[in-house]
Amino acid sequence: MMGYELSYISMIIHNGGHAVVNSNDFLTLRTAFAHPTEIQQRGSMNKISTLLLSLALMVFSVSINAVDVETPDNRINLGFNASEKAEFLSEMRQMLTSIQGIMEGIGEEDRELIIKSARYSGNRMARATSDAIKSKTPASFKDIGGPTHMMFEELVIRAETDDMDLLASFTGELMKQCLACHALFKTD
Ligand code: HEC
Repeated sequence: MMGYELSYISMIIHNGGHAVVNSNDFLTLRTAFAHPTEIQQRGSMNKISTLLLSLALMVFSVSINAVDVETPDNRINLGFNASEKAEFLSEMRQMLTSIQGIMEGIGEEDRELIIKSARYSGNRMARATSDAIKSKTPASFKDIGGPTHMMFEELVIRAETDDMDLLASFTGELMKQCLACHALFKTD
């Protein structure tokens, strides 16, 4: 009975072993299994069963955490070559620069700064994107990217008249586009 339970638990430990090697709990656990007679001397079978059950739960929960850490990167690779990637990432950094200028403009109630910053990532950027990049990006990418540039254009217009809190909310909405695309695609 005892032997069966021990081998069952050690099988579980073996499966999740890589995840718990550094954990103090696991060291305690290994010590316990290295000296099973001590456990036998100390407690009844009931206590041992309780111990085994809680150890099993502990190992299971550590294994679940390990799965989170090792989640594979499932984003779609856009398959750019080195120069396309450099151009694309440069556009991306420009988008971040736009967001920076927009936020600063909102904070300082500087409408001109918001307009200038937003315009940079609007249709102008969409038009400047090279054909090589356009031909490699799938429809699901363009479905997010196109509206993003349009939202920058909308911000240019809204910045003429909207209150700053509305502009901040709209910028927050716009940035959901960044998040949506970043969750789906990668450059390599
Ligand atoms: C249509 C898709 C798409 C949209 C929309 C988008 N991005 Fe990106 N962005 C990407 C991809 C793909 C990468 C590369 C990620 C990777 O390879 O890990 C990237 C990378 C970046 C980088 C890293 C640049 C570098 O030099 O490594 C920044 C900064 C960035 N994006 C900012 C933004 C901001 C800010 C927005 C929104 C205003 C935005 N992006 C919207 C697709 C998008």
